[in-house]
Amino acid sequence: MKHPIHPMLVHFPVATWFLATLADIASLFTNEQIGWVAGVLLVTGTITALLAMTTGLLELGKIDPQSPAVKIANQHMILVMTSWCCYAVSLFLRLNGTQLEQPGLIAIALSVTGFAFLCGAGWLGGKLVYEYGVGTHLNNPGSSK
Ligand code: HEM
Repeated sequence: MKHPIHPMLVHFPVATWFLATLADIASLFTNEQIGWVAGVLLVTGTITALLAMTTGLLELGKIDPQSPAVKIANQHMILVMTSWCCYAVSLFLRLNGTQLEQPGLIAIALSVTGFAFLCGAGWLGGKLVYEYGVGTHLNNPGSSK
């Protein structure tokens, strides 16, 4: 496929994880329902991130190994995987069997940490596209359509 689908899929984990972290913080001040909403968003984000990772790996394989973009792509991958681990453990900590419980302080702290890593990963992802032209016709002359 000429056009990368990674940028299309990343919106799902970015949006759901971000909202999950917001809901986690809100759960410190409001009722239990919002903690449950955060849990559902975490499940969605953690699963959709796996799809984004798969397509990201496909894009990684297309980068010229001599390009300086490889280093940035690897850093992007490490940050995003760290973020995934933080969110996955945060989710695990609030599970009781298959039931989502109110998040504790460690689960909320991990959610906030996961978001910090996600911001770093997103920054580097943007760098790959807008500075190095990864996935664009700049790196693949003649395929601008
Ligand atoms: C194994 C994991 C991953 C690898 C190897 C990877 C690799 C890449 C590569 C090569 C690019 C530039 C080319 C393109 O946009 O298609 C990119 C961009 C990007 N990635 Fe990833 N990625 C991974 C996972 C993720 C995940 C899970 C997210 C979101 C949670 C994400 C968010 C982004 C964003 C926001 C961009 C910039 C897209 C744009 O501005 O158009 N990546 N990634």
